[in-house]
Amino acid sequence: MEIIHVSAECYPVAKAGGLGDVVGALPKYQVAAGHIAKVVLPMYRTKFLYENKWDVVHKSSAYLGATWFDYTVIKERDNVLGFDLYLVDINGLTDREKVYGYSDDTERFMSFQIAVVDWLANWQHHPDIIHVHDHHTALIPFMIKYCYSYQQLASIPTVLTIHNAQYQGQMDWSRSNYIPHWDGWQWGILDWHNMINPLAAGIRSAWKVTTVSWSYLEEMRMESNGLEALFEYERGKCVGILNGIDTKVWDPSTDKYLEQHFDIDTMASGKRANKEWLCAEFGLQPDKPLFIFIGRLVGEKAADLLPRAIGDSLYYINQRMNFLVLGSGEPHIEAELSHMTHYWPGVYNARIGYNEQLSHRMYAGADFLLMPSRVEPCGLNQMYSMRYGTVPVVRRTGGLRDTVIDFGEPNGYGICFNAASVGDITQAVYRGVELYQNQMQFDVIRRQLMEKDFSWDISTEQYIDLYKSLVP
Ligand code: ADP
Ligand code: GLC
Repeated sequence: MEIIHVSAECYPVAKAGGLGDVVGALPKYQVAAGHIAKVVLPMYRTKFLYENKWDVVHKSSAYLGATWFDYTVIKERDNVLGFDLYLVDINGLTDREKVYGYSDDTERFMSFQIAVVDWLANWQHHPDIIHVHDHHTALIPFMIKYCYSYQQLASIPTVLTIHNAQYQGQMDWSRSNYIPHWDGWQWGILDWHNMINPLAAGIRSAWKVTTVSWSYLEEMRMESNGLEALFEYERGKCVGILNGIDTKVWDPSTDKYLEQHFDIDTMASGKRANKEWLCAEFGLQPDKPLFIFIGRLVGEKAADLLPRAIGDSLYYINQRMNFLVLGSGEPHIEAELSHMTHYWPGVYNARIGYNEQLSHRMYAGADFLLMPSRVEPCGLNQMYSMRYGTVPVVRRTGGLRDTVIDFGEPNGYGICFNAASVGDITQAVYRGVELYQNQMQFDVIRRQLMEKDFSWDISTEQYIDLYKSLVP
């Protein structure tokens, strides 16, 4: 089977979060399972672009509204990622370092989607499946169904995976001419609350919709940033498939970023060496349990609660633990987390920014990973932390609910709590500190974590079965 993934991110080409990890790994596992998987994304100016060799495979032009733009598709020459990788260059729109965050993101991703569809329409043969991810590529299923110029693609089944329904890519109806000449009778498919809503249009137009965990799919019918009724209505075409992790990239016995490698047999000493490095680097105390947070500093992740939850834990539990935070996001949360380092020297530190190497070292050296998320479609951090023998401390929501069982329950191995509140986080930290005191139980749990299999193998099969159900 031949699958083409269209996405805004793909690790290690371009990554802003978990979407990059998933699109970097799933195609690799699909190839290993005997399929042809291709990935296409915008040609951002990232390090990966300059470090690899490329061939030009297609050049053409298209319209974005009244603007005529040229685009070029290049293909990575040596198959370094284990699957075919294509980048689409659009002068003036993709030539940026970052994936998102520009005032013309709407135009950037609209013209990217148009270029991809225009290019696919030129292929001599058709892929079996077009698999798009999140709102940045969610208009593709609509375009190939309802744009007059792309009707030759209309019979290709499309799958939309929702990694995060909080972001929907809404745009004003004045931009409806951005979508190449389309069947005006279908305006209702684009519309949601008087705006063009690419994610809603994708849910309605794709042949199948997947979410990245089962619980998230259920939750979206109750709370999905305004799309609840749509998820209820379209429930028949939606299915939850849990993300996996790339166990080759995330392997503590080979991870190129670590201070010291370890496996399940050398876990205690290996983790200790990594912890000592972290503590020396950040002025923390290796004999106390180390709690970390890694992620986007936004409300979804409940990062706004961290300053008080950390402060209360340090105060009420007598500084019996350390905290280390790595993240970037909303400026006021960044400022508060930085400022706090002056109040709690020796037991708290923070690194504001994005740092892939440090994140690996933190998963390896920490004792506990905090994830109090208000919304977590799947969450990869908890799976990385478990693979590195770090106990996840998570709120019961979305993918966290589906991947972590509290150690108080039969066969449990993590710490779970119900509310995204300072009180619940502090209480969970307390349970972690107490668990840490019982080194024997703590070690049993850490070994249990490292034995768990979160690789993509099972989910890859589920995606393939889903595709097969669509291909005649
Ligand atoms: P989301 O995609 O919602 O941000 P996930 O848990 O799915 O959350 O994935 C987050 C990914 O991004 C993980 O690979 C995590 O290690 C990484 N990450 C997040 N913030 C940072 C950061 N500041 N530095 C390095 N890696 C980060
Ligand atoms: C999103 C979600 C996260 C998920 C990731 C990969 O960014 O917020 O929970 O793990 O996508 O699917």
